Order: sequence, then C-alpha cells, then structure tokens
Amino acid sequence: MFKVSIIGAGNVGATAAQYIAMRNLADVVLIDINEGAAMGKSLDLLQTGPVTSHCAHLSGASGYESTANSDVVVITAGIPRKEGMSRDQLLKINAQIVSSAAEQAVKLSPDAVFVIVTNPLDVMTQLAYQITGLPSQRVIGMAGVLDSGRFQTFIAAELAVSPVDVKAMVLGGHGDLMVPLLRHSSVNGIPALELISEARLQELAVRTRDGGAEIVSYLKSGSAYYAPGASVALMVEAILQDQNRLLPCSVLATGQYGLNNVYVGLPVVLGRSGVKRIVELPLNSSELQALQKSAAAIEKNVVVMNDLIGWGKPAIVEAAVDELPGVVVVTAPVAAIAEPAEPHQAAEPSVSAPEAASAEPAEPVAK
Ligand SMILES: NC(=O)c1ccc[n+]([C@@H]2O[C@H](COP(=O)([O-])OP(=O)(O)OC[C@H]3O[C@@H](n4cnc5c(N)ncnc54)[C@H](O)[C@@H]3O)[C@@H](O)[C@H]2O)c1
Repeated sequence: MFKVSIIGAGNVGATAAQYIAMRNLADVVLIDINEGAAMGKSLDLLQTGPVTSHCAHLSGASGYESTANSDVVVITAGIPRKEGMSRDQLLKINAQIVSSAAEQAVKLSPDAVFVIVTNPLDVMTQLAYQITGLPSQRVIGMAGVLDSGRFQTFIAAELAVSPVDVKAMVLGGHGDLMVPLLRHSSVNGIPALELISEARLQELAVRTRDGGAEIVSYLKSGSAYYAPGASVALMVEAILQDQNRLLPCSVLATGQYGLNNVYVGLPVVLGRSGVKRIVELPLNSSELQALQKSAAAIEKNVVVMNDLIGWGKPAIVEAAVDELPGVVVVTAPVAAIAEPAEPHQAAEPSVSAPEAASAEPAEPVAK
C-alpha cells in the first residue's frame, strides 16, 4: 500500500483522507496541531473500512514521525480567511504554518510528491517549493482541478447533461483572476460554445470564479471541502497510479506562456514523478493576457509573503536536470533554505506580463 500523509486534519484534510481511503489508494496519516482531531477523525475513518469495503489504514498524530517515507504529502494546514481579516494576515499566518509543515515533512519524506492546498494557494505552493528545496515537479498546488470541476458542474446544469460528459479547464491563479477557458470547454467533444452562447458561458465562468465565495455565503463559517477534498484525491490517484492525467495544477512556470519562476495554474501531465511536463495550449491573445495578468498578481503576493516572513532578496540557484520541461533542481540545502539570513527563494519575476498588470491590486484569495 502507498502512504499519504495529510498535514491538517480539518475539513479539507479529513475529506481528502476519506476519498483516498474509500478508493483504497493508500494508507493515510493525518497530522494536526489539534492531535485529538487527527486521532479521532482517523479512527472514525478507519472504522468505515468494513462498512465501505476498503482496507486502507488510517492513523492520526500531532508529531511528524509517523509520516516518514510517505509517497505523497498533502498540506492543508492553515486557516481560511475570516471576515475582517486582511490578506496580509492570512498570508503571514498560513506562510508560517506551511513553512513549518513543509520543513518537517520533507525531512522525513524527501522522495515524496508534495500537494499543497492551503490558501493563498499559488503563493503557498511557491513557499513550499522554496522551503523543501525539492525539484519543482514534486511540489504542486491543487486548485485548477477544483475550479474546473465547478465550471464543468455549471455547464452540465445549464445543458441538463451529465457532468461526466463535460470537460473544461480553468488556468491561472486560484483567485478572482482565474482564467476559465471558454474555447476549450466541451461536452463529449462538442465545443461548449456551439451549445451555449458566449455571453451565457461567460456568466458561468464568473460563477466559477466566485464559486468558493458562493459556498462560504451559505456556510457562514468555513469554506468548501467536499469538492476540494475530492480534487486532492484525484491528484493523489493520478500520482500514485502514474496515470499521466492532463490536469490544471499550480506549477512552477519555466518559460511557458511567457511566464517564469512563478507558481500558477497551468495544464500539466501528472504521474508518479509529479509534473511530467507542462502542456502549452495555443491560447489567443486575450486568454494569454488574462493568464499573464493572473500570474502577475501572484508574483505581487509572493513579494508580500517574502517580506512578511522576513526573507530578503531572492537567491535561487536553478539548473535544468534533464529534458523534462519545468524540471529544476534547487542546489541549496534545506538547512540553508530555512535560515532567514541566507534565504533561498524564487528568482525575481521575469514574467512578461503587461505593464498594466503591475498596477493591479494583488489577487484576492479563492476558497
Ligand atoms: N486550494 C484550494 O482549492 C482550497 C480549497 C478549499 C480550502 N483551501 C484552503 O485549505 C486550507 C484548509 O481549509 P479547511 O477548510 O480544511 O480549514 P480547517 O480550519 O477546517 O482545517 C485546517 C486545519 O489545519 C490545522 N492546523 C493549523 N495549524 C497547523 C499546524 N501548524 N500544523 C498542523 N495543522 C495545523 C487546524 O488545526 C485545522 O484542523 C485553508 O487555507 C483553505 O483556505 C484551499
């Protein structure tokens, strides 16, 4: 059995554990500072085995020892944004939590693929990449699968067809500037634009962008977790079973789409080694501009994050390791990365974003 450790046994973490166990994908270790939550939820999930016919083992703890030699580490630890809380506060708190989780987990599972879920998603994924020192193809953010799932759901409902037949892809950052690709949405091969007017499809794209907030408005406290948990499990399955799924994930761009050294949602082929390659779609100029604008907003937040956590000027050392696009090796040791005096961070943004984008406010966080 594979082993998946989930750091953060809250709503998303526990739901992801449930999907992973029920599909017999892996044994699951839940880690949470609230040890009781990790232990109680894992024991509860373990007892679903005989009822739902799965044989995954689940355990919970607050210490990281039991995560050793994980095949996949999922980080969902953090806090969702609450009313009255500034983005800076969320960034700072979650940056501290994600830094600590990534640093502890990578020491015990240096060969794992890391899947980051904590918001602000793209920035936290970039932080985990910086902290772990792992090659970028093994540090991946989950957001595009969820956002695309939301878009697919709304298209299916509009046409009264099975959501299984709808394919759609949402690129860009996990926030207000995400980029649902209208032209690349289809129903069993039929372009969605031949079945729905562009104006209506645009409305569904806007609902997708606001999809997290819509759920928060109903829940009042907390944010979505069933679809996020299922999206994590889908990525975990693609990785463990080396499925080569073509999925939108937050990955480090290394020149694709005119973007460089920024984590942003792009189409990738996902398998056992993580990101096998970034797929470059022929985007038209407005799609490309929207993607670059979204990436520029993430870059702004990365700068804010690095300031907030007290890291100085970027000093990344990258070298291509093989022919795989998007694969870089970080040559500084983890110890050096964790040392604020000698920071190891993403290189200065070299994105060819439109100048206008730099005047945009940093991107709000989606749920
Ligand atoms: N990427 C996405 O698409 C997406 C979707 C939904 C939620 N999220 C984000 O995922 C995160 C978790 O959401 P949730 O609904 O599960 O929240 P939650 O509050 O239910 O769970 C978070 C858990 O993290 C734990 N935690 C906090 N600090 C920790 C630490 N230092 N070590 C270990 N555990 C720690 C908390 O005790 C809690 O159990 C949030 O940041 C949320 O915004 C992202």
